[in-house]
Parts: sequence; structure tokens; C-alpha cells
Amino acid sequence: MQPIDLRSDTVTRPTAAMREAMATAEVGDDVWGDDPTVIELEREVAAMLGKQAALYVPSGTMGNQIAIRCQTRPGDEILVHELAHVIVHEAGGVAVLSSVQTRMIAGERGLPGPDQLEPWLRDPADEHHARQHLICIENTIGEQGGLIFPQDRIDAIAAFAHERGMRLHMDGARLWNAAVASGSDPARIVRDVDSVSVCFSKGLGAPVGSAVVGDANLIETARRNRKLLGGGMRQAGIIAAGALHAVRHHVDRLADDHANARALAEGLAGSRRLQVDPGSVETNIVFGAVPAGENAAALVAEMAEAGVLCADLSPRTVRFVTHLDAGEQAVSAAVERLQPLLQ
Ligand SMILES: Cc1ncc(COP(=O)(O)O)c(C=O)c1O
Repeated sequence: MQPIDLRSDTVTRPTAAMREAMATAEVGDDVWGDDPTVIELEREVAAMLGKQAALYVPSGTMGNQIAIRCQTRPGDEILVHELAHVIVHEAGGVAVLSSVQTRMIAGERGLPGPDQLEPWLRDPADEHHARQHLICIENTIGEQGGLIFPQDRIDAIAAFAHERGMRLHMDGARLWNAAVASGSDPARIVRDVDSVSVCFSKGLGAPVGSAVVGDANLIETARRNRKLLGGGMRQAGIIAAGALHAVRHHVDRLADDHANARALAEGLAGSRRLQVDPGSVETNIVFGAVPAGENAAALVAEMAEAGVLCADLSPRTVRFVTHLDAGEQAVSAAVERLQPLLQ
């Protein structure tokens, strides 16, 4: 039995058309600024997000880390949600690569609005305090089940940051999902954000790469930092062509992934061994709560035996992610395989 892989939207393989675009890509040495396909991708993505410039980087992690490094100084403190990818899944990178400390804040849908952020501020005139110069948010919010960060709150946090001379970074690994699900232009979503990292290798289905996007000054500094971190790539047009194909052809179809995620949640709702709430699904991620007496890792192993791969995020939480390589049929087959096990 072929397993249905719903562990992440990163598991997709390039489509035939994407491989064709990659095979025929024009390339050059991108560290010398000579790769026409990388340049085209960077221009197109910057334009899509309404920003001056973009930089192609090997991964979303590198994109976030570069953006944070460019907008902080050692000894700074960043304000960030306690479950943010940069905190939970980037190997402590902010401490190592930017030498910043973190002020980790809880919130039901990413960071709370300005009223609740205010108490987290330190006095910039007090020499005892770390300098706070950067706020980081994530959209969609991975560790909260792919929720969309509310637009009014993004705008309010940006205004709050800018009034205080601070900057705002958005980890937009799944910004495309947020845009499609909310029917918003991605440029509108990030209008007031100073830097954003976006991924081509998640729902968009490209094999490699992300971009850091922002104003020209930021991207110039980002380019230097990419080199420092070993992320300068030579004939990167081969992979950038996959990313370019993805942004041109795979954004609108994310709506299918969202519908499939809802169908999956509806199919699993009412299960005794896994609590799934279809009302909580906003994009391509479905969370299941593991009841007392069960363990997520053991349940994930049982589901794998039944032919459905998913991920245990914690002993109490299981995650399914829909994507380009798991369409409507695969998702209904997954429900059929799981229902008897989870009842
Ligand atoms: C929200 C979020 N940000 C950043 C990343 C990092 O991307 P990468 O795996 O390309 O480093 C991920 C990866 O899944 C993610 O989910």
C-alpha cells in the first residue's frame, strides 16, 4: 500500500512542467550577479509583494535568520511569539547568528495587538535594558494550525513598531496560503511590514528555496549576510526556475489544498481517539488533539501502519498538511484508512 504523506507540504516533488522549466533554465553565476533566472525570480517576487527588492536564499530558515541578523545588533531583544518557527524550529539560530535575546510572548493567534504588547516594552533610556528593535510575526501561524494572522492586527503592530523606531519582520513561509484563503493581495498583507521571508518549497511545490523581501538597503545587507552564512549559490537558476514556475502556476491552486484540509477535518471529526475541529481549519493544516490516555507518537505510528503519514508536534498534538501531491482522492482515501482506527 502506497502511504499517503500528509506530514508536511514540504514533501512534494516537482511536477513535469516544473522539471521542464528547471531543465531549460538560463543560468549564470549568481554570486557574481549573473544568473538571469534568479534575477527574474527576485524581481517578480519583490513586485508581487509590493517591495523594492528580494533575495533568493536556500531555505526559509536562512531567510528568517538573515532578516533578523540584518535588523538587530548583538545584545538586542526581539519580541516574538513563544511558538514561532524562529523560536521552536530554527536550532536556536537567533542566539547564535544574531546574538539576540528573545522576549517570548503568548497569544491565541500569533502576537497580541499593541495594547497587550505595550507591557512587554523596555525603557530604551535605561542602560540596564536590552535594546528592542525588532518584532517578528508569522503568517500563516504554523504551530497554531495554519491560522491567518488578522490583517488589522498586522497593521496595528506595524504602526506600534514604527512609532517607536522599531521594525517588523514577517515569517511568511505560508504567506501565499494566507493570501489565497483570505482573498487578499499578498502585497496588501505585507504593506507595512519591513521584511518578509516567503517559501517556494512548501505549498507552492518547488524543490528548493525561499526569498527575503524588503527595501533595497535591507536586501543589500541581506546579500552580504547570505554570503557570510554560506548561502551564496552559483548556477542557482536551475532551482530558481522551479520557484519561478511555482509562483506563476501554483499560487491559486492553494485553494484546493485548503478545501482538502477542510474535507479531511470533516472526515475525522467525531473520532474518539483524535479530536479534530473542522471549524479551526483556515488553510492547509489540520491539527488533531490527542485525548488523555493516548500518546501522539504512538498514534502517528499506528496511522503510518494504516497507510497515512502525519506528524506528532507534541505528545498531545498531531498535524496533517495537505499539498500538491495529496489531492482530493488521496485525502478521501486517507479518511477511509483512518476512520476505523480512530473511531
Ligand atoms: C512557518 C515556517 N517558517 C519557516 C520555515 C523554514 O523553512 P525551511 O524548512 O525551508 O528552512 C518553515 C518550515 O516548515 C515554517 O513552517
